[in-house]
Amino acid sequence: MRIDILSLFPEMFTGFLETSIIKRARDNGNVDIRVHNFRDYSLDKHKRVDDYPYGGGAGMVLQCEPIFRAIEDIRTEDSVVIMMSPSGSVFKQEMARDLSKKKHLILLCGHYEGFDERIRTIVDMEVSIGDYVLTGGEVPAMAITDAVTRLIPGVITKESLDSESFDDGLLDYPNYTKPAVFRGMKVPDVLLSGHHKNIDEYRKSEQIRKTEEVRSDLTGGDKVGK
Ligand code: ADE
Repeated sequence: MRIDILSLFPEMFTGFLETSIIKRARDNGNVDIRVHNFRDYSLDKHKRVDDYPYGGGAGMVLQCEPIFRAIEDIRTEDSVVIMMSPSGSVFKQEMARDLSKKKHLILLCGHYEGFDERIRTIVDMEVSIGDYVLTGGEVPAMAITDAVTRLIPGVITKESLDSESFDDGLLDYPNYTKPAVFRGMKVPDVLLSGHHKNIDEYRKSEQIRKTEEVRSDLTGGDKVGK
């Protein structure tokens, strides 16, 4: 898979791209991630990319020209162009799964007051990572790149992907490691028992309990698995 990210602040991605699983996925050729500064596509002699909103109002608006030129330069027949925006559809694990099957994603990061409305005509999707407003689309682009990359076959083991949060609409089960007792807090006996069927049952029931406790919206408020 290839992911192209268009941003005014490419330096924000340096640590993200050079650390941990994302770095390994790039080194192994599972994903080719490129970050572009769309200021490079400005035709303005001062490389300007924004201007005041028509009709007045606060802040600056990203202009069409550099963004259209950047997308037209980078996109192919296989590209899905995604605009980061707090007014987009909310990004969920299911969307991450769908996007991980695409050949090419182009993630467009806004800044300032937002985009000229006409930019919406050149994008395929508008995506928000949650109901809050960030200073720009860079953190959302990292979140989407991260969630999608780890789902690309070969990036992490199939076992790690099995039964994680949001599979079956449930949160993950609790994990413990050594020591078996820490400051009086004991690891549940069943996990030390070696009895795999009981361990599976315990984990499933913990998933259901936790999901109902903190995310009843995922279970529709109904008791699940009972
Ligand atoms: N840009 C600013 N806030 C955002 C959000 N919550 N999701 C996506 N892009 C954004």
